[in-house]
Amino acid sequence: MDYFRIGGGKRLRVTVEVNGAKNAALPIMAATLLGEGRSELIDVPDLSDIAVFGQLIEQLGCPVTRPDKHRMIIDATRVDRPFGDYEIVRKMRASVCILGPLLARCRRVEVSMPGGCSIGDRPVDIHLRGLRALGAQIHLKGGYIVAEAPKGLVGAEIFLGGPFGSTVLGTANVMMAATLAKGRTIIESAACEPEIADLARCLNQMGAKISGVGSPHLVIEGVDHLGPVRHTVIPDRIEAGTFMAAAVITGGRLTIRNCCLEHLMAVVDKLREIGATVEADGDGCTVALVGNLRPADITTLPYPGFPTDLQAQFMALLALAEGNSLIIEKIFPDRFMHVAELNRMAANLRKEGAAVLVAGVPRLIAAPVMASDLRASAALVMAGMAAEGTTTVNRVYHIDRGYEKIEEKLNAVGARIARENPNAKMALKEGDMT
Ligand code: EPU
Repeated sequence: MDYFRIGGGKRLRVTVEVNGAKNAALPIMAATLLGEGRSELIDVPDLSDIAVFGQLIEQLGCPVTRPDKHRMIIDATRVDRPFGDYEIVRKMRASVCILGPLLARCRRVEVSMPGGCSIGDRPVDIHLRGLRALGAQIHLKGGYIVAEAPKGLVGAEIFLGGPFGSTVLGTANVMMAATLAKGRTIIESAACEPEIADLARCLNQMGAKISGVGSPHLVIEGVDHLGPVRHTVIPDRIEAGTFMAAAVITGGRLTIRNCCLEHLMAVVDKLREIGATVEADGDGCTVALVGNLRPADITTLPYPGFPTDLQAQFMALLALAEGNSLIIEKIFPDRFMHVAELNRMAANLRKEGAAVLVAGVPRLIAAPVMASDLRASAALVMAGMAAEGTTTVNRVYHIDRGYEKIEEKLNAVGARIARENPNAKMALKEGDMT
């Protein structure tokens, strides 16, 4: 397992480029399964989660090729085996979004039921409720969701809200299934995340008839057939937001290219409250810290609220603010594995239920820390860049799931991060002895 050694105290400067959005690319890869033929996706990030999803699609009988690092061809001319294997789904929960498209296209699908993960229980009951409303018969067998609609799906009015508001992948699943249903489907309380709007635009290019794109009220007129597509994935707002926070925590000034500020208004608002300047600049923005870091209260919410996927990174930032901040998690109430690790670096964080009281400290002190999930690892890398001394972040395979070559990108703008592997070191030592 690789780990990072991070030398703290370097300001980030100049320009960094954001890749296409992982969380848009994954459901869009699933959407191509609805279109008979070869689809081409552009600006697909080169990440381990994308590779795993590609394997899943190949297991269905649809060849996946990558003509270059950021382009992908999916040949969904035929789907031989509508089956989502436990071995893949257990590695990546987003695999569940093959359920809707395969049910619509093949009328029968089996997908392993995803389990919980380090950020919470993460049920899929709302996905199943929505698909049942479209006429699917669904039961569980040996840990697999078996969904059938032998005569095809039928449009319906569906309320997709749950205890934590809308569901991103639940909306993706039901929207994709409804594109081929007979008649009209109305989804109320649909997720409004830009990734869902991008998916809807991609489906419309394939021949679907979805209106209300980007709103909580989607109207889908079912069609008989969808074709292949050539689609460019939107920029990753979470990668962009992470770079913004990294610029500020190091007291630097960073220009972020391929960044859609419109998707980041809640984040920009918080950055300004904290003491940063954010200026639109070409196809992105320039972020800098002016003066000292000020505290701020943050509540994570569905889009356009503050994203849960930036909660950990902003906690690292506020750990260094002059005063107290309160962070409330309203999407994943248990998504706080980074709290204890940040406290090992001399942060002063106190968790109370689904909230964390952040008492700002003047400095963080380097320590060995353990990454627990994708965004927590980004927060630890940021803390390491701001800390005094050399921080070691273990289990960085988590970060490789969602950030393409993050250490290379950050090193190019002034960070000092070395990727190391304990086995490589051991091999070197053995070699030294002979
Ligand atoms: N929920 C239910 N029942 C369901 C579905 C969701 O109760 O059937 C609850 C969840 O437990 C959670 C809330 O609803 O409390 C919202 O979950 P959502 O379904 O929106 O999450 P998701 O679709 O599984 C996507 C992203 C996550 C991101 C969340 C929230 C992808 C591949 N994943 O997950 O991204 O945190 O939306 O914005 O798009 C990440 O990239 O690090 C990541 C975890």
